[in-house]
Amino acid sequence: MSPAAGTPHPEWDDLDNGGAGGGALVDTLGRPMRDLRISVTDRCNFRCRYCMPKEIFGPDFAFLTRSAVLSFEEIARLARLSAALGVRKFRLTGGEPTLRAQLPALVQLLREISDVEIAMTTNGTMLKPLAAPLREAGLDRVTVSLDSLDDAVFRSMNDMDFPVALVLEGIEAAAAVGLPVKINAVVRRGVNDHTLIDLAGRFRGTPHTVRFIEFMDVGTTNGWRLDEVLPASDLVRMINERWPLEAVEAQYTGEVARRYRYRDGAGEIGMITSVTQPFCGTCTRIRLSAEGKIYTCLFAADGVDLREAMRAGATDDVLTSLIEGTWRAREDRYSELRSQSTPDLRKVEMSYIGG
Ligand code: GTP
Ligand code: 5AD
Ligand code: SF4
Ligand code: SF4
Repeated sequence: MSPAAGTPHPEWDDLDNGGAGGGALVDTLGRPMRDLRISVTDRCNFRCRYCMPKEIFGPDFAFLTRSAVLSFEEIARLARLSAALGVRKFRLTGGEPTLRAQLPALVQLLREISDVEIAMTTNGTMLKPLAAPLREAGLDRVTVSLDSLDDAVFRSMNDMDFPVALVLEGIEAAAAVGLPVKINAVVRRGVNDHTLIDLAGRFRGTPHTVRFIEFMDVGTTNGWRLDEVLPASDLVRMINERWPLEAVEAQYTGEVARRYRYRDGAGEIGMITSVTQPFCGTCTRIRLSAEGKIYTCLFAADGVDLREAMRAGATDDVLTSLIEGTWRAREDRYSELRSQSTPDLRKVEMSYIGG
């Protein structure tokens, strides 16, 4: 059950994030704003069929122009204002964030903002050259997308013939410079589900937690079908038969992945169950697109444009009230509604808004 509109959810006992108008900043379902996901580019060198299918994202696709995309100073300004409103984690995403030139310079700017963790979600292909400079600039950790260790399956899923070895080298490069690494695998029944035990096995006994993500109906181009979703509970059962598992308490309210530990002490895995067990009730994420719009749901159709306001000379106070007003008005819970019916909505693409 959600609490009354605008009252903090009882699970958040440390709401110290006073908004400009006083009082904790929470949305209509009592959720605080804790994570800012920053998309730094809408481009990617992969064409994963579940995210950027080639038929749509082909040579003629109109990606954002350079001037449409926020500068690092613009991003850092909005990040600083969001932190003042209670955000505690920045996550760099894309498209593929490492394709953005000079990315370490952005990390350096974000690092100047106090008490905020900086993470990045990447496909790992550029980590070999970039892990060290990103670490030096102040990146705290990375999440690498890796859907299969089977080279043929991997090449087919990224649809650009990238070999899996390149990603594994990227993961090693990140670990070698001391960046904690998580692995994200999107699960598609009939596509990579037969390779997932191998994936779990490869990272068992390492500090890298693998998180399996139920294939989601993000955007409108990925041909999503419910019968391609392998429920996480089935996958937990499969892995548990091989290596017994036990559930672990969430580390913090609003954690996206349900955690499981190998009973023999060989580490942990996670399940991101946004289709079969949605977690909208504790969703604390706000998303900034590469062109400066904020979205309060991964499945939103429209965002609030902060770039135009910024470029027209808006003061920090004006930008703060735009962000705050957007969050206070928020009532999204798409995944929960989806589980009640199958809404036919216009939605932005995942490659635009970041995962
Ligand atoms: P940690 O801080 O490492 O726990 O990060 P996180 O939970 O934010 O994880 P990450 O960014 O790696 O998210 C993993 C995946 O979960 C994303 O790529 C999405 O597929 C999915 N996901 C993340 N946030 C949301 C969300 O708000 N809604 C839904 N439906 N899915 C989400
Ligand atoms: N369903 C689930 N996860 C997805 N991602 C991209 N598209 C989808 C989808 N349709 C994930 C990627 C990556 C992150 C950026 O988003 O695997 O981990
Ligand atoms: Fe690129 Fe990630 Fe989308 Fe794949 S899932 S196309 S790597 S942004
Ligand atoms: Fe949050 Fe929207 Fe995802 Fe629900 S569907 S968890 S509200 S981003």
